[in-house]
Amino acid sequence: MTPLPFGSTIGILGGGQLGQMTALAAAPLGYRTHIFSPHDDEPAHLVTPFHTKGSFEDEAALAAFADAVDVVTLEWENVPLKALEFLEKRVPVFPGPNVLRIAQDRVLEKTFARDHNIGTTDFAVVHSAKELDAALKNFTRPCLLKSTRMGYDGHGQVFIKEDMTAQQAWDSMKAPVGILEAFVSFSSEVSVIVARSANGETATFPVVENRHKNQILDTTTAPAEISDDIAAEALALATKLTSDLQVVGLLAIEMFVLKEPNAKGQRVLMNEVAPRPHNSGHWTIDACPCSQYEQLVRAVTNRPLGPVAPHSRAVMQNLLGDDVLKADALMKNPSAHVHLYGKTGIREGRKMGHVTFLRGAW
Ligand SMILES: Nc1ncnc2c1ncn2[C@@H]1O[C@H](COP(=O)(O)OP(=O)(O)O)[C@@H](O)[C@H]1O
Ligand SMILES: [Mg+2]
Repeated sequence: MTPLPFGSTIGILGGGQLGQMTALAAAPLGYRTHIFSPHDDEPAHLVTPFHTKGSFEDEAALAAFADAVDVVTLEWENVPLKALEFLEKRVPVFPGPNVLRIAQDRVLEKTFARDHNIGTTDFAVVHSAKELDAALKNFTRPCLLKSTRMGYDGHGQVFIKEDMTAQQAWDSMKAPVGILEAFVSFSSEVSVIVARSANGETATFPVVENRHKNQILDTTTAPAEISDDIAAEALALATKLTSDLQVVGLLAIEMFVLKEPNAKGQRVLMNEVAPRPHNSGHWTIDACPCSQYEQLVRAVTNRPLGPVAPHSRAVMQNLLGDDVLKADALMKNPSAHVHLYGKTGIREGRKMGHVTFLRGAW
């Protein structure tokens, strides 16, 4: 595959902050970006003038978008498969529907991992309160019920304690299909981001550690404070998954580090994957020679991938809701790199921006 000529247009499905930061990374390489999304007034529209507004079901809008771009990537993994298949007949789409089909569904994701000898949480699929009740007999409480699709930031998740009935848990999930998961008692949560281009070249960022508050990412620390053995296991899991899934673009892999190895001797389990730029990779903008966003641009245009060795250690803190009001104070800190997404209207838990603190040489 020949590289996409500089000056070509990368189409991005979705107009959020991940699309904004991808568009910002494309510009210095001379690539234009064109957003497809159902909304105006989103972060990505502030940095590129090219936008096709339409729903993901609107084939006329999708066709116009396909005509305007040379390659398509995405910043939101829940784009309907039908839209991706429609686009793929007209223009290359990276990552393609084969990857998205799996990444959109927690059951397919964990089944894929299991079939490929990758450690993951024990799970059962349930379609009703009755099935959940039966499945609960094989699980120790507490355990977790999650919607299989469309989940993010803990939405659609129910923590099932001793006193909760299957019916109560089922009703609070509010989804037609659920996945019941064993509760993992982890020592930490880590993630790895892998870039892979159409010619199979890969670049893997180091393992980072993620802390969540109310199931929303709060901070990412790079590097993760884990032993070299565990880091090697996490990197091996992430690179295997990326090549087994044949991802073109980025794959972010969220993992649990177990307190003790499980019966199979595994110390790292896959939690979920996202085939797009990831919140836990924002730090790479300020601490690496080539950010996750630039790697995505290079991967989908079939250019050489960039170096991944960071120059600085870093801590990324999300600015949620009111946190954005601290921006001025943070801007006085010489080691703080403040990124605001330009969202209007502060809402509790809404991702308004982030700040990356550089913590000295890597
Ligand atoms: N099986 C589990 N055991 C323990 N904690 C979990 C489990 N599943 C999820 N969590 C916690 O909830 C967070 C969000 O869950 P996750 O599966 O990543 O869904 P999403 O990020 O799509 O909302 C995880 O990062 C982790 O902190
Ligand atoms: Mg998650």
